Amino acid sequence: MIKRPRILRKSETIRSIVRENRLSRDDFIVPIFLQEGKDLKIPIDSMPNYYRFSLDRAKKEAQAFANMGVQSFLLFAKCEDNKKDNFGKEAVNPDGLMQRAIQELKSILPNSFVMTDVALDPYSIYGHDGIVENNQIANDATVERLAEMAVSHAVAGVDMVAPSDMMDGRIYGIRQAFEKYNFNHVGIMSYTAKYASCFYGPFRNALDSAPGFGDKKTYQMDPANHREALREAQLDEAEGADILMVKPALPYLDIIHAIRKQSQLPVSVYQVSGEYAMIKFAAQHGIVEETSAMLETLLAIKRAGADLIVSYFVKDMCRLLSENS
Ligand code: PBG
Repeated sequence: MIKRPRILRKSETIRSIVRENRLSRDDFIVPIFLQEGKDLKIPIDSMPNYYRFSLDRAKKEAQAFANMGVQSFLLFAKCEDNKKDNFGKEAVNPDGLMQRAIQELKSILPNSFVMTDVALDPYSIYGHDGIVENNQIANDATVERLAEMAVSHAVAGVDMVAPSDMMDGRIYGIRQAFEKYNFNHVGIMSYTAKYASCFYGPFRNALDSAPGFGDKKTYQMDPANHREALREAQLDEAEGADILMVKPALPYLDIIHAIRKQSQLPVSVYQVSGEYAMIKFAAQHGIVEETSAMLETLLAIKRAGADLIVSYFVKDMCRLLSENS
């Protein structure tokens, strides 16, 4: 035998110098869940150790992340029940929670990179990402509303919007609106290949945004499909997206890899609420060791080709990275 691959695995030192992928703080984007109120840090039952914050507490949380070396945030706002309607009126309120959050975070952390979820579901009485007409999701009317929503975030000072709705043509619609209103410096991170996944369940619980009727299969993608994701990526790129996203992460590593190969744009990947919850609950039951499961899944996502990772584990990762430095 002349080829002995175990030579390169002999000790942690040799393993570490031949290691092909590493995680660093720069890989991560932190999702932040916001709600109205003061001094609130509300645990989310379906997501152990994750919280919804009132804006005052969210600012402290963001500051704590900045102190740990992570300053990229993706904001989600929980809408109060009495403000929900079919058209997402609250989503475009210039004094809405999201708009205030953007302003206040950018003012306390001017070097932060603030991104926002753009979709109607938290604001919709139907819990759908778009406007409902005759029990269908009306594509073009929704795109107009999303473009307005994106512009209202831009007015508030957002760095990049992240449309998560999967309507046709929404990247172009948003890009055009940004050009029209002179927000040509604001970016678009498109949820490009967003699958109709069961793994969003805990998130919908966190934001009270589960669909009231039907499901999201007429706009989110069929988990059976691969080529369709590449087509969505081509379209989003042509429509003016700056970053392409794949979501969920672990069940779709092949899609991450394929989009990474097809496009020259950065590819971001969302390790979603259900992926997080599975690890947390399995660890609570002693079925897997939490830190190893976190590391192994995040590394797999990076190895598949992710340039950026949105994850609920960012704080745990930061702690681990500082312990090991
Ligand atoms: C809103 C949105 C969802 C997620 C991100 N943006 C839920 C959905 O589409 O139903 C899921 C994130 C997660 O599960 O962590 N459109």
